Amino acid sequence: MRFPAEPFRIKVVEPLRRVERSERERLIREAGLNIFAVPADSIYVDLLTDSGTSAMSDRQWAALMMGDESYAGSRNFYHFEAAVRAIFGYRHVIPTHQGRVAENLLFSTILKPGDVVPNNIHFDTTRANVEHQKAEAVDLVIDEGLDPRADHPFKGNLDPAKLERVLRDQAGKVPLVMLTITNNSGGGQPVSMANVRAVREVCQRHRVPLIFDACRFAENCWFIQQREPGYANKRVGDIARELFTLGDGCTMSAKKDGLVNIGGFLALNDADWTERITNLLILIEGFPTYGGLAGRDLEAMARGLEEVLDEDYLTFRINQVAHLGARLDEAGVPIVKPVGGHAVYIDAKRMLPHIPQSQYPGQALVVALYREFGVRAVEVGGLMFGHIDPTTGQMVWPALELVRLAVPRRVYTTEHMRYVADSVIQLHRERDRLRGLRIVHEAPVLRHFTARLEELEGAAVAGAATR
Ligand code: F0G
Repeated sequence: MRFPAEPFRIKVVEPLRRVERSERERLIREAGLNIFAVPADSIYVDLLTDSGTSAMSDRQWAALMMGDESYAGSRNFYHFEAAVRAIFGYRHVIPTHQGRVAENLLFSTILKPGDVVPNNIHFDTTRANVEHQKAEAVDLVIDEGLDPRADHPFKGNLDPAKLERVLRDQAGKVPLVMLTITNNSGGGQPVSMANVRAVREVCQRHRVPLIFDACRFAENCWFIQQREPGYANKRVGDIARELFTLGDGCTMSAKKDGLVNIGGFLALNDADWTERITNLLILIEGFPTYGGLAGRDLEAMARGLEEVLDEDYLTFRINQVAHLGARLDEAGVPIVKPVGGHAVYIDAKRMLPHIPQSQYPGQALVVALYREFGVRAVEVGGLMFGHIDPTTGQMVWPALELVRLAVPRRVYTTEHMRYVADSVIQLHRERDRLRGLRIVHEAPVLRHFTARLEELEGAAVAGAATR
C-alpha cells in the first residue's frame, strides 16, 4: 500500500528514551498492570491516545506569543469564535478546557434523572457524564458497527429505526440525541452524510435536538469525501459546513481535530441553553471569553481548526493509520475493518480466544505490548466498559473487546508505525502464551483509569527476554 509521505518536515525534535525490558517489567508491575500508571518517558511509541498529543505547527507555536491574556474580551477569543463559526456555523460558542467539560456543562444543564440519551456509541466520558445525571445512555449504532468483521464504509452510522423506536417508547424523556463523529468506541468509524440526514429527520419529527460529539469531525468529513457518492469533488471544509447545518450544536474536544494539546468548546444555536450553560461555566470553568483556557490556547485552537482541514494533511494522516492496519491485516492479526480514522483497533476476542472476556484479553495484550516492546496501547473492552447492571446485579460485558492503537497527529513517522506493526505481529505469533488477568482494585466509575490488576495463575511471560 502506497500513500503520500509526511506533508511536513521536522523543525524541533523530542528525544525518545528506550528503557530495558527488565525496567519495563518492573514499571508495569508497580503500575498494577494498568498502562495509565506507567510513566510516559519510559514508553518508546505511545499510542495510548490521539487526544492532546498532536504536534502543533510553527504557526500554532507562533500563535502562543500572540496570546492576549485579558480576563474579559481577549482578542484571541474573537478569533477563536470566528474560526468555530466559520466551520460549525452555530451562533453561540462557549470555550471549555476540554471535551468532557463541554459534555458535563451540557448534560448537567439539560438532563433530568430518568432521561435517556441516544448516541451511535457514547465515548466513556460521555456515557459517564450522562449517567452522572442519573440518566441513561443508549447506544444505537447500526448492527454492522458492532461486528468487527463487517465491511461497511460508514460503520459509525446510527440506526434511524432504532432511534425511532427509542423516541417513540421514551417520548418526553429524550432531551437530545448525540452523534459521535467519528465513532471512537466503535473503531473510529465514520458517519455518512446520508445517515446524518436520516437521523436529523427522525429528530425533527420528534422535536428533539441533534448535538454532535465533533472531536474528529475533519477525519469524518474526509471519509465522506472519499467514500460517499456525490462528495468526491467537494472540499472537506465544505462537507463539514454542510454536515453541521443538520444539527443544533456540538460538543468538541479540540485535543483531537483542533490539533492542540488542551482545549474544547460547546457550540449551540439555542439561546436559552446557552445562557444556562454560561452561568454554570462562570461557576466552574471561567469567564465566557476564556472558559478555563489561556488566551494563547484559544489562538492555537483557532489556527488548529483551520489547519486540520488541509487535505494533504488529512490524506497523509488517515493513510498513515490505514497503512498500520494493512500491515497487521496482511500478517493475519484480527483488526476492526475497515480501519478507522485515528486508530487501528485489534480484535482481542479473536486474537486471544483462549482468554475469556471476564479475564480481560484486551488488557492482557496491552500489558504484553508494553512489557515486551515499549509500545503503549489502550484497552477498549471489558475493563473500560464492563459494569454491573443496577437492576439485575449481573455483570454486563461490552460486545466488543478491542485494543486501540491511537496514532497522535503529526507526531510519529511511518518508521515508528513499522516498529509498532512488527511488535504486534510478533506477539500475535506467540499469542498462546498470553494469560488472563483479574482486577484487584477498582473505582466505582471510569474504573479503567485507576484499576489495579494481576496475572492469573499460570501466567507465562517467557519468551522475548532480550527484547
Ligand atoms: N468524545 C469522544 C468521542 C472522545 O474520544 C473523547 C476523548 C471525548 C469526548 C472527551 O474529550 O478528553 O477532551 O475531555 N477521547 C480521548 C481518547 C480521551 O483517548 O479517545 P476530552
